[in-house]
Amino acid sequence: MVTSSAPGKVYLFGEHAVVYGEPAVPCAIERRATVTATEREDAALRVRAGDLTLDGFTVEYNGDTSGTPDVDVDQPLLEAAMGYVNEAIEQARDAADRPEAGFDVTVDSAIPLGAGLGSSAAVVVAAIDAATRELGVALDAEEIAERAYRVELEVQNGEASRADTFCSTMGGAVRVEGEDCRRLEDVPNLPFVIGYDGGSGDTGALVSGVRSLRSEYDFAADTVAAIGDLVRRGERALAAEDLDELGRLMDFNHGLLAALGVSARSLDAMVWAAREASAKGAKLTGAGGGGCIVALDDSTGTETALDYTPGCERAFRADLDTDGVRVERA
Ligand code: MEV
Repeated sequence: MVTSSAPGKVYLFGEHAVVYGEPAVPCAIERRATVTATEREDAALRVRAGDLTLDGFTVEYNGDTSGTPDVDVDQPLLEAAMGYVNEAIEQARDAADRPEAGFDVTVDSAIPLGAGLGSSAAVVVAAIDAATRELGVALDAEEIAERAYRVELEVQNGEASRADTFCSTMGGAVRVEGEDCRRLEDVPNLPFVIGYDGGSGDTGALVSGVRSLRSEYDFAADTVAAIGDLVRRGERALAAEDLDELGRLMDFNHGLLAALGVSARSLDAMVWAAREASAKGAKLTGAGGGGCIVALDDSTGTETALDYTPGCERAFRADLDTDGVRVERA
């Protein structure tokens, strides 16, 4: 039995535009998905999800989601979660050259599903690490990130960048531009506050919505390119530890994402509540459509304001997590 964990993340800048080769800066946060893999004697895969901020469910299946039982959770979210675990196990089987290996897998996650905090990437990264180690193979971080990226590509119908999976594997703040992925060193303490509306967005649909807008309107393509320019400025502000400028650029980034149609009333309400409190800046994080916003605030003002914002289900502080994937128990 091996247990591994991997962190969730917020995007300081650059989601969506990163899909078209622009740079992005995601940051790992101290909220983890934990996966335990135990090899079985047969080739079956049994997945138990203790807490995925769903109500907790147990599913037995042999590789496809068609026969999932009737459980009291949102079916698309359930199928997505199962799809990610299934493909991660396929990657582990392939990496260890054990195509028939069966597993009992338990997933526990403190990262809300589909809410922009990289839950799927964290589950996939931790699952690949735990399952390969259980088969006696320890992959290096680059290979875990590469295989986790392939899982997201497969499950999200080809609509994925390397950002979420690389960040969850490496931890810390990272920079991703196409295939060029690296960790950023000497990053200042970033006082993240997260607001969560209790909902989720459909990443695949949101990414294809932006793709259609971008091909239909030149100004939408320009908006995507403007996000890239903004990220490059953001990198300079990060290196200069200029939190005020980072906040201004986060506000701008949210506006550009809203123009691309990926915000939501609840996300806008939380962003405005954060700004009107004491945040240096605030933006949606991840694919959008619902889920989470991230604000920068080292005082308690934003968290308190979000607690009183209609539509905000939970507000919490999340520190940068410098650890990526790690073994918890072997
Ligand atoms: C989703 O967390 C981030 C997106 O940029 C998609 C991706 O990068 O794969 C919207």
